[in-house]
Amino acid sequence: MSLMSIDNLRVRFPSAAGTVFAVNGVSLSIEPGEILGIVGESGSGKSVTCQSLMGLLGPRARASGRVTYDGRSVEIGEIVALRRAGGFPAAMIFQDAVAGLNPIRTVGSQIAEVFRYGRGLSPAEAGRRTVAGLAAVGIRDPEQRVKAYPHQLSGGMNQRVTIAMALAAEPRLLIADEPTTALDVTVQAQICALLRRLVDETGVSVIFISHDLDLVTEFCDRVAVMYAGAVAEVGTSRQLKEAPRHPYTRALFAAIPGHRPAFSTLEEIPGEIAIQGAEPTACGFAPRCARVTDLCRREIPPLMAEGAGRLACFNPH
Ligand SMILES: Nc1ncnc2c1ncn2[C@@H]1O[C@H](COP(=O)(O)OP(=O)(O)OP(=O)(O)O)[C@@H](O)[C@H]1O
Ligand SMILES: [Mg+2]
Repeated sequence: MSLMSIDNLRVRFPSAAGTVFAVNGVSLSIEPGEILGIVGESGSGKSVTCQSLMGLLGPRARASGRVTYDGRSVEIGEIVALRRAGGFPAAMIFQDAVAGLNPIRTVGSQIAEVFRYGRGLSPAEAGRRTVAGLAAVGIRDPEQRVKAYPHQLSGGMNQRVTIAMALAAEPRLLIADEPTTALDVTVQAQICALLRRLVDETGVSVIFISHDLDLVTEFCDRVAVMYAGAVAEVGTSRQLKEAPRHPYTRALFAAIPGHRPAFSTLEEIPGEIAIQGAEPTACGFAPRCARVTDLCRREIPPLMAEGAGRLACFNPH
């Protein structure tokens, strides 16, 4: 049984200037101890999907859909209540680690707070667990580092701190929204190795959002490709890399340097993702798709099981 599944998630942001249809019927699931990647170009609804799960959408958002966690199913609007009641142990980390930390408090006190107030531990026990937590995310000399302020640490170390803070709540699902985008490639590789080790050691599941397709296919067990607020294709990393079926997935991979013959020009996907200003009635990728048919412009392709993966396309490769 899946650890968590999302069924038909829809999120809109009404405003005076018009409504943005940010997420249009996303369905996804994640297994225990799995790393699920989410890729897709800017504005495709990756962050909004994850923010919905954490109850971080803000008061203007209108969201619907169901989330099933450990066999229990609730409306997306009830997810925060479920989390507060301990029924949905999820935590999130972000691209900008420093922004998620309080600049005028030591990193140790911020982690200890989760142990004290989140888990009801004594100050002494919270202190011990904080040092152990920093050691577990690979911070050397953790007894000294607990006294550091965020500005005294590097970007990679601060990201390790936010991972330690997220893990202090003992989540079963860790949502990472571009956690390595702001880091250089060597630190990026270290953070991914750390996440993989934590998955192996604790069995936590990870949703990993990134723009970096190479990184995602190397690091994640399965990958969901999103376009215009919908899931285009889901498959194992190998499946998507070697035999992508959706024209958008294929175009994405063709756009990566190194996936093309040397010295040829990079393939560009013509056009750009449109902000969805109306309820979609057709495939969102149709205006840019080389394989478009009349049906694609008339109907939304349903996300169907396809081999070991899932695919939403009327005319796949
Ligand atoms: N609070 C909000 N109010 C209005 N529109 C929003 C809000 N948050 C997101 N959107 C819109 O929803 C759509 C999806 O945004 P989202 O942030 O999920 O994209 P993303 O896939 O995470 O992109 P990126 O790769 O740039 O992070 C975009 O059109 C965005 O402008
Ligand atoms: Mg985002």
